[in-house]
This record gives sequence, structure tokens and C-alpha cells, in this order.
Amino acid sequence: MKYLITGGAGFIGSHIADALIARGDYVVVLDNFSTGNSHNIEQLVGNPQFEFVQGSILDLPLLKQLTESVDHVLHFAAAVGVFTIVDKPLESLITNLRGTENVLEAAHQYGKPVLIASTSEIYGKNGSGALNEESDRVLGSPLKSRWSYSEAKAIDESMAYFYFAEKKLAVRIVRFFNTVGPRQVGHYGMVVPRFVSAALKNEPITVYGTGSQSRCFCHVADAVTAVLMVIDSDLTLGEVFNIGNDEEITIEALAHEVIDLTRSSSQIEKVLYEKAYAVGFEDLQRRIPDISKIKKVLGWTPKRSLDVIIKDIADHLK
Ligand SMILES: NC(=O)c1ccc[n+]([C@@H]2O[C@H](COP(=O)([O-])OP(=O)(O)OC[C@H]3O[C@@H](n4cnc5c(N)ncnc54)[C@H](O)[C@@H]3O)[C@@H](O)[C@H]2O)c1
Repeated sequence: MKYLITGGAGFIGSHIADALIARGDYVVVLDNFSTGNSHNIEQLVGNPQFEFVQGSILDLPLLKQLTESVDHVLHFAAAVGVFTIVDKPLESLITNLRGTENVLEAAHQYGKPVLIASTSEIYGKNGSGALNEESDRVLGSPLKSRWSYSEAKAIDESMAYFYFAEKKLAVRIVRFFNTVGPRQVGHYGMVVPRFVSAALKNEPITVYGTGSQSRCFCHVADAVTAVLMVIDSDLTLGEVFNIGNDEEITIEALAHEVIDLTRSSSQIEKVLYEKAYAVGFEDLQRRIPDISKIKKVLGWTPKRSLDVIIKDIADHLK
């Protein structure tokens, strides 16, 4: 099978490329290196099962040409990371809306199955406990850049779903909750690599807000297994699945765990949200996935603990 992975030089997309090639599939990666980079795919360069094309999902003729040449499209390209979205809200919206529209249009024109990578951000500030695929979306003003990623990704899902419902396109949607592991970078606002990187240099670890906010982290290797199970199954057509780990930890406890596991002498420093982001930035107190649907339909559960995640990221950064 030949796959086109948009955003395949990014964190999750490059791990998906590795896994597909390891099982004998062919992969074409389309990436513009905006947040991804060539190091993530250097192990694949020269492999006859692999091809890299530098370009954008906003280039519809290129996207159509590549889509025609493959059997299946996996759409991971997006403007991601809190800092990217808050700093460049308009560019991010255009990438996330028009880019996905292009991917769906091309997939429909050539009748190719497509997987859309969505996000737990679509649930917004719904803090009512474990969120399942039917949970409500709770958002602030559309004029706040904070919510524009959530809005764009939710429209992407709707568009993908109605391509399935109205045009019979073979669509699958996955909603990643915090996914972490080797190759993820901290400078776009990802908390675990940011903490591990500071700990390895014995620099202060900056916790935004009180640190009592909690999160759940899923190892990218577990997420990749889930994605392969989703794309390989007919039971997943026209469906959306949460992918995440439901083990919860506060951000302050995470900082301590990172310091302990890396044997670091880093100190924890707390910074007001207003200093880290813009005034009025809203963070979420909790974000927990309900993963019972993917467990029931495909038998998938995450296998790797937070300690394994921290150790793997530290090994990678060293
Ligand atoms: N990592 C997570 O925790 C997480 C959580 C929820 C959803 N997701 C989703 O998973 C997908 C992959 O995210 P990631 O964490 O690997 O981030 P990433 O930034 O590492 O990957 C995104 C990739 O898309 C590329 N890209 C951006 N704009 C592009 C364009 N116009 N044309 C071509 N390529 C472009 C980037 O260069 C990058 O390689 C995204 O769709 C994201 O929304 C990730």
C-alpha cells in the first residue's frame, strides 16, 4: 500500500512514516518544514519505499498530483502549538481550514481513503471529567486566538464527516489528546519536552499558573499503534476516535517527576499566565480522554507509562 502523509516530517507524522515503512508499505511525505524538520525523516532518506516532497497543503495542484499517485492519504499537516496559534492566528487558520479542505477535495477527486488528524482541543474548556467522542464543545469568543485552533479543527472534522456522509468518501477521524515522545520540540508550547530539556541543562523549569492544572500524556508509539489499527479497519469508516492516555497528573507533579527521573538540580519557577501568553489567556484545569470507544471497537489501550515517556524524551534530547 502507498500512503501520502501530509506533515510527515513532523512529530507524529514521522513516527507514522517509520511504522508504515517498517511493515512494508510505501510512503510519500509532503511537508513545508514550518514546525517539522529534516532530522525527523533522515533515517528514511534513501529508502526505496520513501519519497519526500517539500511543499504545502495550500498548493492544491501539487496535492492533487500526489494524491493521485497513492492509495491512501493520512492528513497530519497543521499549524500546531499554543505559541504558533497565538502568534500567527490568521496564517494558522488558513493552514488548518483551507489546507484540510484541499486534502479532502483531492481525496474525493481521486477516490482515495483519508484519515484526518484532529485534536482534543475541539472540546475547548469542557472540564466535566473524561471526555468521550460525543462530549460537548465549550468555547470562548471566536475573536480570541486561543480558540481558533479548536474552531478550525472542528470545522475540519465536520467537513470530513460530510464528505463521508454525502459524497461517500472513505473518511476516518482521530482526536489526539496530548501526545508526547521523542522528536517533539518544546518551543511551540509543548510542556513535556520543554520541562525535560530544561531539566537536562539544570535550568529552571517554568510552570505556568499554579501548576494545579492536570493533563494526561500518551506516548507517541502507543498513538501510532492506534492510528494503524484505525486505518486498517473497516469498522472505523465515518467514525471518530479519541486517542490518548487517561493517566492524569498535575503540571507541578510532572515537573517534579521530570526532575527526579533526570536526576536534575533544576528548580521550579511559577510564572503568571499573563506573562507566558497574552492577557486574558484561558488555560484548562483538566483534560482527560475517555478512550472506551477505541478500546471497545479495536481493542486498543495505551501501554507506556509517563516514566517511560520522560525517559524516552530525555534519551532523545541527550
Ligand atoms: N502532538 C499532539 O499532542 C497533538 C494533539 C492533538 C492533535 N495533534 C494533531 O496531530 C497532527 C500532527 O501534529 P504534531 O504534534 O506531529 O505536530 P508537528 O508540528 O510536529 O507536525 C505538523 C507538521 O505539519 C507540517 N506543516 C504545517 N503546515 C504545513 C503546510 N501548509 N503544508 C505542509 N506541511 C505543513 C509541519 O512542518 C509539521 O511537520 C496535527 O494535525 C495536530 O493538529 C497533535
